[in-house]
Amino acid sequence: MRNLILGIESSCDDSSFALMDVQNYDLVFYEKISQEEKHSEFGGVVPELAARLHTQILPTLVQKISPYFSQIKAIAVSNEPGLSVSLISGVSVAKALSISLKIPLIAVNHLIGHIYSLFLNDDFQKPLGVLLVSGGHTLVLDIDKKVEILAKTSDDSFGESFDKVAKMLGFGYPGGQIIENLAKNGDDKFDFTIPLLHDKRMEFSFSGLKNQVRLKIEEFGKNLQNNDICDIAASFQKTAVLHILNKLEKICKERNFKNFGVVGGASANLYLREKLQNLADNFDFKLNLAPLKFCSDNAAMIARVGVEKFRKKEFVDYKNLQIYPKFSELEI
Ligand code: KG4
Ligand code: ZN
Repeated sequence: MRNLILGIESSCDDSSFALMDVQNYDLVFYEKISQEEKHSEFGGVVPELAARLHTQILPTLVQKISPYFSQIKAIAVSNEPGLSVSLISGVSVAKALSISLKIPLIAVNHLIGHIYSLFLNDDFQKPLGVLLVSGGHTLVLDIDKKVEILAKTSDDSFGESFDKVAKMLGFGYPGGQIIENLAKNGDDKFDFTIPLLHDKRMEFSFSGLKNQVRLKIEEFGKNLQNNDICDIAASFQKTAVLHILNKLEKICKERNFKNFGVVGGASANLYLREKLQNLADNFDFKLNLAPLKFCSDNAAMIARVGVEKFRKKEFVDYKNLQIYPKFSELEI
């Protein structure tokens, strides 16, 4: 008889369930149903549609895990940050299951979940520097006893800028993988300005770069050819990654990380991974990467945090479990 933690993730446009064994982190069940295709035609996530799809999909996942009901010891659910209507869907299902199965609830910060994607089958290793690049966030963190935020974006996030550039070039959502693929066939010949290059502030900004791309597309107008699109994608990706590297280099000089991880949906970008590996070689730190399958939103990382909190008995009563679309604090 196993002791399992159910992880539920529905903070944006993915509906996912995972069952993880408390003793050995075995992933006994995992499924993610992505809504990307449905949102693609709108060029981004439509909250009302996401909520409607979650209410259709989540009950089917409940049905699939029903053979394991007697082995589930707690339910861990993402309750912050994310789209409110999406978070509510997962939290409501978690509460209903908690009441009917008479098992406790665990609240999980989705961003902490992403960080745990580095340690899905392992104990968490501190101290750890982290670059979190997703559709909603771009953060550099120093994690030891507390989580210290060293840098964040003042406008768009790294992943979001890929989404917006893909949309401007006439492609669907999400744009990250699309831009990365186009860039492989392109020449990074356009000299887009690296944001905040000589600015001492430890922050990111991607909206100016996005505007540079828009102007370049307008310059081509009707003459924009496929090879131009690939060149724009390659030049944009290079500049966006150089912006990240420029700030990270400054941070690395001050922090002397021995262990550093990159997480979040955009951490699947192989060009970014390659450049971060060069940085790791220069600064002599170990680069930790999540399996590509678990970079984007998934319930395995939520279940993994659930295991940690289950061991510490960090439960929350269903009446007090609320959603927080914007996160206030990061605790690990
Ligand atoms: O973590 P995630 O699945 O959802 C959020 O929590 O936001 O991240 C999704 C984001 C999207 O913006 C998507 O375009 C981006 O990650 N992304 C990428 C790549 N794969 C996904 N960005 C750049 N390159 C990629 N290969
Ligand atoms: Zn995410």
